[in-house]
Amino acid sequence: MKSPQNSARLRQRFTFTDENHKIATDHLKKYPSDRQQSAVISLLDLAQRQHGGWLSPEVIDYVAEYLHMPSIRVWEVASFYSLFRLKQPGKYHIQICGTPPCWLCGSNDLLRIAKKWLGIDKGERTTDGKFSLEEVECLGACTAGPVIKINDDYHENMTEEKLISLLQSFADDTR
Ligand code: FES
Repeated sequence: MKSPQNSARLRQRFTFTDENHKIATDHLKKYPSDRQQSAVISLLDLAQRQHGGWLSPEVIDYVAEYLHMPSIRVWEVASFYSLFRLKQPGKYHIQICGTPPCWLCGSNDLLRIAKKWLGIDKGERTTDGKFSLEEVECLGACTAGPVIKINDDYHENMTEEKLISLLQSFADDTR
């Protein structure tokens, strides 16, 4: 017998849109037929974008099925990279690099300011769902530290003033 939870899970079953299915198929064409699983990062990114910026268990299972992979292996990829989020982020997801080159340039102070300004800790989301905050390892722009990534945008050579100004502009955004 189906439990209410299972029924809800079936109702919410994730599938790629037609457009994303085509994009996923194009990704698969880049790899030999016996190496299709190499597309896992591309497909997780595609799925995350379709699913509002995060990967639920159902989405991860879907990608695993799509690539004929055990779910646990897709979980391993999704949980390793800070590119992927396993819980729903805020509308503005703020990632602050905490690796030494950025840390030496003051990223820890930026993290402290962001926590205070937003009233949340690392790994949390504001109650209005507008912001979430995360400290991550190297964002790959080490010569321009401290570096912050907000959604898909990099903000380099950040200062306290620039950070507060950015946060305020996002807070003022009522779209
Ligand atoms: S150490 Fe911060 S971007 Fe590389």
